Amino acid sequence: MSWQNFHPQWGLVLGSGLGGFSERMEVEVRVPYAEIPGLPQSRVAGHAGEFVFGKIGGVPIVAARGRVHLYEGRSAAEVTAHVRWMAERGIRRLVLTNAAGTCNAQFPPGSWMLLGDHLNLTGTSPLLGGAHFFDMSEVYSKHLRAHFSSAAKSRGMTLHEGVYAGLLGPQYETPAEIRMLQKLGADAVGMSTVLEAIQARAFGLEVVGFSCLTNWAAGLNAAPLAHSEVMETGARAAAVLADLLERAIPAV
Ligand code: HPA
Repeated sequence: MSWQNFHPQWGLVLGSGLGGFSERMEVEVRVPYAEIPGLPQSRVAGHAGEFVFGKIGGVPIVAARGRVHLYEGRSAAEVTAHVRWMAERGIRRLVLTNAAGTCNAQFPPGSWMLLGDHLNLTGTSPLLGGAHFFDMSEVYSKHLRAHFSSAAKSRGMTLHEGVYAGLLGPQYETPAEIRMLQKLGADAVGMSTVLEAIQARAFGLEVVGFSCLTNWAAGLNAAPLAHSEVMETGARAAAVLADLLERAIPAV
């Protein structure tokens, strides 16, 4: 089957170390980003670039394995191109995943956090250039949050809920920046997701987001941060979220 004949209901964006979710899917077709005109490709280790079309528990989905980031020198329009492409394929719901540092002492590394809301601290927007003054009071669907929370609970999975702060990067934060983010109400901090969520909401998609809390944010732990730690913790925690998505997506 060609992807042109496949009509996904859900889109998934698989972040650092989470690309393995596509192994759970009944895969129909893979489309490398390179084959799609206008779709930027990531240059970061652990961010393969392809769409995987297939089914999970009988539900047609498309998973974007790999994303590009602002810190790669890309524009807000470029980092959200995959979201527009999936929206044009007809998805109605979007699952965003990412790796993040935790700045909430109650949310230890290795656990997952549902995004209840976000702070867009990137200083940009995928909607620049237009007058899109739309409502942002419920970016992350209350209905989907309740669904995934109760599915996690019934499976004995710890799923926190909190506020994700999206920053430019690529350097990690200073301890002073983390203290500032805590005062602003952030529970987790990362370098992706917020622009994708804005773009998805502008298309009217229902959005749900999950942060894999891979490390204590700067200053909350004696050890310095390392990308390898982020990747390793992400890889270990990936199966837990994959189990949840596999069970809970078909049940929505
Ligand atoms: N800060 C920003 N981005 C991140 C972190 C962090 O501590 N961990 C994983 N992505």
